[in-house]
Amino acid sequence: MNVGVLASGTGSNLESILEAGIPVVVVIADRPCRALEVAEQAGVASELVQRMSFGKDFDRDAYTHQVIEALKRHDVELVVMAGFGTIIPAVAGAYPGRVLNTHPALLPAFPGWHSVKEALDRGVKLTGVTVHIATEEVDAGPILAQEAVAVLPGDTEDTLHERIKEVERRLYPDTIRQVIEGTLP
Ligand code: GRF
Repeated sequence: MNVGVLASGTGSNLESILEAGIPVVVVIADRPCRALEVAEQAGVASELVQRMSFGKDFDRDAYTHQVIEALKRHDVELVVMAGFGTIIPAVAGAYPGRVLNTHPALLPAFPGWHSVKEALDRGVKLTGVTVHIATEEVDAGPILAQEAVAVLPGDTEDTLHERIKEVERRLYPDTIRQVIEGTLP
């Protein structure tokens, strides 16, 4: 099953996915980022489908269309979001049940961009990781896997997020593999 990874950040989840031998055929980024370098070093095709604007004039439909075109051009069958910084719900419409996401909290708690900070601010003692099928509604699709991460005294957003990402780097590739093998969902 051809996998396309969407990423915007440091690409540590992408690295774990590649190390796990998941058959990634293309990495698509919405901005210049380390994830593109990770792809290049691994000899995987990469495409920068750059956002033209981060303001109110951002044409989400046109942008989403470009991303879907790039995915189709590489014959992607399973889309894996690994820290993609643009909300593009229509991709789930083009790939129904075939878009996966990892979220750094125990959904349905703390959806959205600031889940690590919000968990910390709320004073929860446990947060964690959710791997789910992405639907047109953000952070709301069927849950495939979850694992808890304890919030420790003295945690900052960075230290907590890093411990969450350590779990993501194991749980996400494991879950992707199960989807490819057909044992999930
Ligand atoms: C992950 O925590 C992911 O859940 C969130 O963004 C982070 C990406 O990290 N959406 P990286 O770029 O893979 O290191």
